Amino acid sequence: MTSQSTQPIGVFDSGLGGLCILSALKNKMPEEQFIYVGDTAHLPYGDKSEGTLKEYVGAIFQFLKHKNCKFVVVACNSAATVIHKMDNLPFAKDQIIEVITPIVNLIGSQKKYKNIGIIGTRKTISSGMFNEALLKKNPALNITAKATPLLAPMIEDGFIQEHVLKPIFDRYFKGFESCELIIPACTHYPILYSQIENYFNHGLKVLHTPKIIAETLDYTLRKQTIFNEKRNAEDEYYLSDITPEFLRESKLFLGEEVDFSHVSL
Ligand code: DGL
Repeated sequence: MTSQSTQPIGVFDSGLGGLCILSALKNKMPEEQFIYVGDTAHLPYGDKSEGTLKEYVGAIFQFLKHKNCKFVVVACNSAATVIHKMDNLPFAKDQIIEVITPIVNLIGSQKKYKNIGIIGTRKTISSGMFNEALLKKNPALNITAKATPLLAPMIEDGFIQEHVLKPIFDRYFKGFESCELIIPACTHYPILYSQIENYFNHGLKVLHTPKIIAETLDYTLRKQTIFNEKRNAEDEYYLSDITPEFLRESKLFLGEEVDFSHVSL
């Protein structure tokens, strides 16, 4: 424990998908206080240019600094593709975890799966960040990556039934037949894990990424001795645009209804 320990942890996404990550963080670290930001005024991030994305992400980092956070979890793959290229962030590198590196470290060093599929937004897939980092760690991996931009908006609108998804999956998963593992590289996708596994008749595994991010954060906070042993404040939730639909979705992603405050970003 240090003086930083009781400070909150910032978690952000373009919208509400990052709440899937937050849910895993809260389960693993119930004594930590979290501040969640969903940049709903600017979503989707997956189709934005790098320059625009950097501006949005920079504003969120400033807000989380202003909220006195000790650590930031970038719970958005699209945002994760730009933060390594931003040198003016108000947090040090070892105070930030994003959702790509822990997955690359785990999958790049294992021997069980050789044929890997990756799905994500256009931004995440076209950045090549996953492929390049994975192949650098293990050149023997055989990677099939595809942008699946319809999935995040479908999830947000509740189109998650298997018969609705079937024709979309038929198209998106062409070429994934020999995959043994799929990495869902978008924080919205945990909502579809069982639908994807069912689509492949359980012939492959879908990597449960929120759990891996939670374990990485817990390990890092302990290593830096900045974990909290006794929570002394409630979690806070902020959206840059609040509509009834976003409030309804929060239950889907987090498993509980929460009150959101507005933040101008
Ligand atoms: N949650 C975002 C991600 O992980 C996807 C949604 C978006 O495009 O904003 O990439």
